[in-house]
Amino acid sequence: MQPSTFPGKHDQIGVRIVAAIGRRGELGLNNKLLFRLKADMANFRRITASTPLLMGRKTWDSFPKRPLPGRPNIVATRNLEFMAPGAHIYSSVPPALAAGRAMAAQSGVAEVSIVGGADIYAAALPSATHMTLTEVEAEAEADIFFPVFDRGEWREVASVRLEADADNEFAFVIREFERR
Ligand SMILES: NC(=O)c1ccc[n+]([C@@H]2O[C@H](COP(=O)([O-])OP(=O)(O)OC[C@H]3O[C@@H](n4cnc5c(N)ncnc54)[C@H](OP(=O)(O)O)[C@@H]3O)[C@@H](O)[C@H]2O)c1
Repeated sequence: MQPSTFPGKHDQIGVRIVAAIGRRGELGLNNKLLFRLKADMANFRRITASTPLLMGRKTWDSFPKRPLPGRPNIVATRNLEFMAPGAHIYSSVPPALAAGRAMAAQSGVAEVSIVGGADIYAAALPSATHMTLTEVEAEAEADIFFPVFDRGEWREVASVRLEADADNEFAFVIREFERR
């Protein structure tokens, strides 16, 4: 079902980009993530808990268990026959984002989370109000990269660095940004 209207103040809902990138903006290879970072996964679960998740079809396909539990999963695909049990399907990003905002408003959640991949980040970036970027201190072979964006449009409001350890194969910095 593609709900066209929901009650609530949709315009006040934030849009948060959430991504983990290597030094060259690497996102993925062969439809898999690049870095094994347990602490970053825990942070992903924390910041996206209960927020609607907007993703591209390949990111949906990449999840071993889907939908990700506890929040609406919204999938963009141009394939009108694509089936994604447990998800809401949209054929372009603006209505998918509008639906995500409406779902958030309806359930009293402040944000929609944009969780990739590259084209979905690029399409949602102009609407994004917040960004959580995990910058991994490593380079990796990749076939998908985070889109180039203007850092001048963003103010860094928090960051935390974690060292590599048994659960996190590389050191990384989680940076929180707000749009200026
Ligand atoms: N590091 C991270 O934080 C992170 C986050 C997410 C994903 N990833 C990685 O990134 C890779 C997947 O990302 P990806 O960029 O290849 O694919 P993706 O963005 O997840 O999915 C691409 C698909 O989404 C649909 N799509 C894209 N733009 C659309 C639009 N404007 N309107 C409607 N549908 C649209 C199309 O589906 P159809 O082909 O079905 O039409 C397209 O083939 C994987 O390696 C994954 O592990 C990394």
